[in-house]
Amino acid sequence: MSKTILVTGGLGFIGSHTVVELIQSGYTPVIIDNLNNSSISVLDGIEKISGMRPECYIQNILDTSIVERTLRKHKIDAVIHFAAHKAVGESVEKPLEYYHNNVGGLISLLNSMKKTGIEKLVFSSSCTVYGQPKKLPVLENSPVVKAESPYGNTKKICEEMLTDISKNGEGKTISLRYFNPVGAHPSSIIGELPLGVPNNLIPFITQTAAGWRKELTVFGNDYNTPDGTCIRDYLHVVDLAKAHVKALECIETMTESYDVFNIGTGNGNTVLQVIEAFEKVTGQKLNYKIGTRRAGDIEKVWADCSKANIILGWKAEANLDTMMLDAWNWQNTLTKPE
Ligand code: WQD
Repeated sequence: MSKTILVTGGLGFIGSHTVVELIQSGYTPVIIDNLNNSSISVLDGIEKISGMRPECYIQNILDTSIVERTLRKHKIDAVIHFAAHKAVGESVEKPLEYYHNNVGGLISLLNSMKKTGIEKLVFSSSCTVYGQPKKLPVLENSPVVKAESPYGNTKKICEEMLTDISKNGEGKTISLRYFNPVGAHPSSIIGELPLGVPNNLIPFITQTAAGWRKELTVFGNDYNTPDGTCIRDYLHVVDLAKAHVKALECIETMTESYDVFNIGTGNGNTVLQVIEAFEKVTGQKLNYKIGTRRAGDIEKVWADCSKANIILGWKAEANLDTMMLDAWNWQNTLTKPE
């Protein structure tokens, strides 16, 4: 009998790729999504790739009683929680909305899990909790610093909440600290669907190459890096999705009630190196200019993922070229919104 996993935000970018990997690993996902940053058409894509159309509830996790009803309807074995706002810049403009949705949403979910006796949780966290690490690559026991944005602070607060709850021996939780998830499913049937002007680098690159945007602005080239542009640890979204399956397996045997893992590749690339990789694999010349720094950007971060490699038995496989090619192939399936 396959285990049933509730996936909140399961129609989102990372959520949908994780739902596919869950199905292909023999799990039965059930989705809750409020379509705030996704589209119901993603469900068709999941079915097309995996051959299964998961049960999907268009609900808001802030509505505890509705979530509780959904949890009682299915024999849920564990929960993977993606549903949250994630735009760093937007969080600076709308801090209360971010605290309400991201922190309030987790509290609501945890209350519904408690009422229905569900104990296992995989939480979507972020490398933003590290801020600008003093030492690189960054380890899980590297200091978690004051967040640079309300978004990053919501992830930090959620991790602290989960740590405190686990001290009471209530449930078992794994937090996965994502680095920079990019790319799309190799089938090009699902991928990233940024609403409006993309905040993130890769969708802006592919939309510029597709002629949806005039040019990319590189936010600063006066950083203390080999070519002056910021360094990030870009990770293929399918590799990230697979890490969640490994985390579910780990929860079954883990003795602690809370643990945290860096999910990255361990490699750092500058913005210009990403552009170079994109141009190389796609044969597209990218139109970009160097602009001023973006407020809130940290200079450089990349992960030490040895803990995930050893304990989760997970390691990123895709290289930057593959990430760029999958992102570009996905972009070419899209039509520019009016
Ligand atoms: C990457 C680099 C920009 C756009 C993201 C998510 C955050 C978290 C970590 C999950 C930076 C530069 C970007 C552009 C540019 N993920 N850039 N021109 O800021 O590292 O954060 O990953 O929790 O939620 O937002 O990613 O893609 O915005 O920026 O030069 O038009 O690209 O300065 O150096 P970031 P990003």
